[in-house]
Amino acid sequence: MTTLTRPTFVLCPPDHFDVSYVINPWMDPAAWAKRSDELAAGCRQGWRELAEALRQAGADIELLPAAPGVPDMVFTANIGFVLNGTAVLARFRHPERQREEPHIARFFDDLAKRGLVDRVLPCPDGLYFEGFGDAVWDARRQRIWMGHGPRTSPEMASHLHDIYGVPITPLELIDPRFYHLDTALCALRGGEVLYVPEAFNAQGLAAIEAAVDKDRRLIVGDEDAVLLGANGIPLGNRYICGGISEGLRRTLAARGYKVETPGIAPFRLSGGAAYCLSLRLDHKSAAFARRQAA
Ligand code: ARG
Repeated sequence: MTTLTRPTFVLCPPDHFDVSYVINPWMDPAAWAKRSDELAAGCRQGWRELAEALRQAGADIELLPAAPGVPDMVFTANIGFVLNGTAVLARFRHPERQREEPHIARFFDDLAKRGLVDRVLPCPDGLYFEGFGDAVWDARRQRIWMGHGPRTSPEMASHLHDIYGVPITPLELIDPRFYHLDTALCALRGGEVLYVPEAFNAQGLAAIEAAVDKDRRLIVGDEDAVLLGANGIPLGNRYICGGISEGLRRTLAARGYKVETPGIAPFRLSGGAAYCLSLRLDHKSAAFARRQAA
């Protein structure tokens, strides 16, 4: 049984990262091409800063080796979802990212051999699933918030429920800018939920309001939404993100979170930020932790 005791993140170095196709409204290959050397260097530097911020916060890092032809593999949040040592692998909506799937399968096999995950399950035939990008674990509420529409299939909700036995709250994503749930929602350890209201329909907003007390709803305004400010990594009392307004920084500080901003802004030209660039291996539900301890 997996014995990870420290926060452990999978990152993939941006050795082959670029913006060469368009699968979300943030992606602008022409803007990238104009300054590609400078932007690629910025991404390499920012990624190193992100890795360092995670290490400084006490996390271990596992590296998914970069490969040519799959530039978006740096966004490891999308390669799968892992809870209680059980991984469900991604099946990408777009052919451009489907090319990552053989790399991902090999990588998870290796993690399983090394005992870093116990079980590796495929995405069911005919469905799409983009991992932590659309499945956000809320430890405080012991549930998974699941985004669907642009990428992940709605049917994944019952599938994830069957596998993990925790409640799943499906949220349809209606704004093309917020094509993955993690661009529009983040669950913090104190029970606060950061979210971008425009990303959700009335039913989704009602689900959020039903689950999260008013004083724990942190509405992300336009300034932060376009900085991908909700795409942070909550780790202990830290919130590690690519960019944030002074207002949101103060709101988080008042609740005891220390905001850190590694220089990953150039990844926004692909529609990604800190949370997208990481995948956590050690999340455990309370019920699972109790069974493990018994
Ligand atoms: N260009 C990538 C895509 O559109 C960005 C993925 C960002 N990842 C995330 N978890 N939001 O697939």
